[in-house]
Amino acid sequence: MERRPRICDYEGSDYRADFWEGKGREYEDLAERIALRHLLPATGQRLLDIGAGFGRLAEFYGGYQQVVLLDYSQSSLRQAQARLGRDGSLVYVAANFYAMPFAGDTFDVALMVRAIHHVEDVPALLGEVARVLVGAGTFVLEFASKCHLKAILRYALRRQRWSPFDPTPYEFAEMNFDFHPAWMRQRLNEAMFHVKRTRTVSHFRLPLLKRLIPAHLLAGLDGLCQPSGAWWQLTPSVFVRCAAGKPAGEVPAILHFRCPVCSSEKLQESGGAMACAGCGRRWPVEDGIYNFKTPLPA
Ligand SMILES: C[S@@+](CC[C@H](N)C(=O)[O-])C[C@H]1O[C@@H](n2cnc3c(N)ncnc32)[C@H](O)[C@@H]1O
Repeated sequence: MERRPRICDYEGSDYRADFWEGKGREYEDLAERIALRHLLPATGQRLLDIGAGFGRLAEFYGGYQQVVLLDYSQSSLRQAQARLGRDGSLVYVAANFYAMPFAGDTFDVALMVRAIHHVEDVPALLGEVARVLVGAGTFVLEFASKCHLKAILRYALRRQRWSPFDPTPYEFAEMNFDFHPAWMRQRLNEAMFHVKRTRTVSHFRLPLLKRLIPAHLLAGLDGLCQPSGAWWQLTPSVFVRCAAGKPAGEVPAILHFRCPVCSSEKLQESGGAMACAGCGRRWPVEDGIYNFKTPLPA
């Protein structure tokens, strides 16, 4: 039997409080925002934030007619909803990103930050992203790199057994992967993504520097170094902007869902659920969140 890729389930965890709030990561947060300001189109029609969490990156949603926040964790989406509201231009979808509940050619832009490190089947995920993007749609991806200066130094001093130069992904904790930039580029190419720009991020992720230099200053310096990502990538975080290699197309005016189980695109909203005409499953819509994880009992 085919084994499904494992999922890193954030349900019920408080990622915002546990990882960001008062945790000394202002520098990383600001540096990522600088990279996104350079890579993510400021305006567009329909943006998909894959693994959106609590909507940390909502400042980048403003120029889009519609934004879909997709996450496996309903509790994170509820946090996002509490922060961002239930404005009709924001759509909250609880689903597995390996089987996105959208028709093909639906989005002109997709964004995935701090989420692919939970992906053990990268080709399957990239295939899904390519499927839902239209034409030469933009995909902005952040991934954690295994080949950064600290890892190289530790390896050279024999304080680390695994090689940062080995292209295979390294699972440093259960369901947390670091990737080699060349390996990730190859997977992107295989999924027909053309990497247009690369920015390296978090050059100065060192506790001493973070203690000594104010976060906004350090992030500003990082921003100056980020373009060097076009030539070499030696930071723990890498951002790429890619173009999908599909025939030209139009973003549909209406967001079309697709059943994640039978792939039918005949879904209709009625009685608090999305009813699938293909397999009869009914996917609940609860408090403004489309739930494509567990269908209602038959
Ligand atoms: C580290 S958080 C990043 C959140 C956000 N992108 C950010 O930068 O703040 C990773 C997110 O990926 C989501 N995730 C992990 N596996 C998933 C899957 N199989 N399908 C959908 N979302 C998933 C988690 O629920 C979590 O919210």
